[in-house]
Amino acid sequence: MEFGYIEDPLEARGASLLAVAVTEGADVIEEMPGVLDPALISAVSAVVASGDLKGKASDEIVVYGQGEQPKRAVLLGVGKADELTPEKLRRFAGRAVRVAERLRMEELFISLEGFGPIGARIAAQSVAEGAGIAAWKFTELQAKDEDSPTSLVGAVSLVGGAPVESSAGSMEGAVIARAVNLCRSLQDRPGNVATPSHLADEALRVGREVELDVRIFDEAEIREEGMHALLSVTRGSKEEARFIVMEHRGSTDGAAPLVLVGKGLTFDSGGISIKPSQGMEEMKYDMSGGASVIAAMQAIAELEVRANVVGLIPASDNMPSGTATKPGDVISSLAGKTIEVINTDAEGRLILADALAWGARLRPAAMVDCATLTGSVIIALGHHAAAVMGNDNGLVSELRDAGDASGERCWPLPLWDEYRKQLDSNYADLQNIGGRPAGSITAGAFLKEFVGDVPWAHLDIAGTAWGDGKLSYQRKGGTGFPTRLLIEWVRRRAG
Ligand code: BES
Ligand code: MN
Ligand code: ZN
Repeated sequence: MEFGYIEDPLEARGASLLAVAVTEGADVIEEMPGVLDPALISAVSAVVASGDLKGKASDEIVVYGQGEQPKRAVLLGVGKADELTPEKLRRFAGRAVRVAERLRMEELFISLEGFGPIGARIAAQSVAEGAGIAAWKFTELQAKDEDSPTSLVGAVSLVGGAPVESSAGSMEGAVIARAVNLCRSLQDRPGNVATPSHLADEALRVGREVELDVRIFDEAEIREEGMHALLSVTRGSKEEARFIVMEHRGSTDGAAPLVLVGKGLTFDSGGISIKPSQGMEEMKYDMSGGASVIAAMQAIAELEVRANVVGLIPASDNMPSGTATKPGDVISSLAGKTIEVINTDAEGRLILADALAWGARLRPAAMVDCATLTGSVIIALGHHAAAVMGNDNGLVSELRDAGDASGERCWPLPLWDEYRKQLDSNYADLQNIGGRPAGSITAGAFLKEFVGDVPWAHLDIAGTAWGDGKLSYQRKGGTGFPTRLLIEWVRRRAG
């Protein structure tokens, strides 16, 4: 999708579709200096006079002018001005894109006027994110139908606002949306396409495009590193595992890095502890954490964030076979701890254990992992927030704040020592499951054993990485969660 910012509203007058946000009680004509074509102004005036436009969040009215070119404006209610949030602007922009699709408009203009108390830069960033995420669709595996008119928006231009802040915010939002959409592409690709080596190739491609240092460890190198927990998970698959390291140098050479770790489980069948077949096809999205880290690294480089940031992705399948790890097997790990594998379906924590131990050796200022780790997190929080837990309360609250700002929210769960007892094993230093009670927490307690004294937090994204597409700017499939949250957290850390 083409993306642009237009400072002078007069330049938007040739637009075939212009989306305008209307807050409750606002004088639309007064607030849109120059954006509306004179022919449209009378049409909008008629709507205003009718009283039908109340600015409520459900309002959607398309008006037509009588100029030479077909000109339309869609007036979208966004509720009370003093209750506006960045997330409401993302949803507004998403609705504008859906209207454009319905009207088969390939080009959409969105006015940046009328956003009340939200700063111009954040407003532009939010609208750009919402529009950019909404316009994207996963189509790469279907034949293109040349005859039928496309229903996708090919170009979005944001118009007006405060020129300096609005253009900067638009650019930032476009970069972030592009990263989110990269994450969604990787999530939606099936397990036979998005293999561990495919994720590695994508990381290398991104690295070339935005100048990140990328190193890929193949299976022999993973063995040399001593990452036996990762190896125990990949044993059952013909696909070779990869360990992906992406590096952004935005600060001085010695400065302690921020480390992002993402679970890159490219298909989770459960292994020998095999999952039921109902819904198993969705387990292609078990690499969402890894996809999100690749995507966040892309945006962090493009935005030239002034921090050293390292992205780590352990990538593997989890398959049953004659060579697969069996329930009861005791394995070793990079950190030296032995693990009794009670259930081979609790594999995410195994590949993360080695990646976290590897990351801890970099002496990071902070380390954050994200993973579709447990079904229990869906029971706890549903699909509206990720769980966040860690060994550093300050870091946990930073992530909550970044989540609120980015619209990718997370909510804390405790990691008290008592939970660790559920992981006691008869045969090894710990076992990989903690029974039914507090399944998300015992998974977090397991990870905590591998980070040493590094400030660390874990995001369980099993309930948020995949969506039903009901949110205006989303579609059914990968949501990109927590790409926006990670970018926001790293940008805030960099100051
Ligand atoms: N990838 C799954 C978690 C998951 C479940 C992600 C549903 C998305 C939707 C993870 O590897 C897993 O299988 N976890 C088990 C752990 C259990 C065996 C302790 C689970 O949650 O059932
Ligand atoms: Mn599993
Ligand atoms: Zn899994």
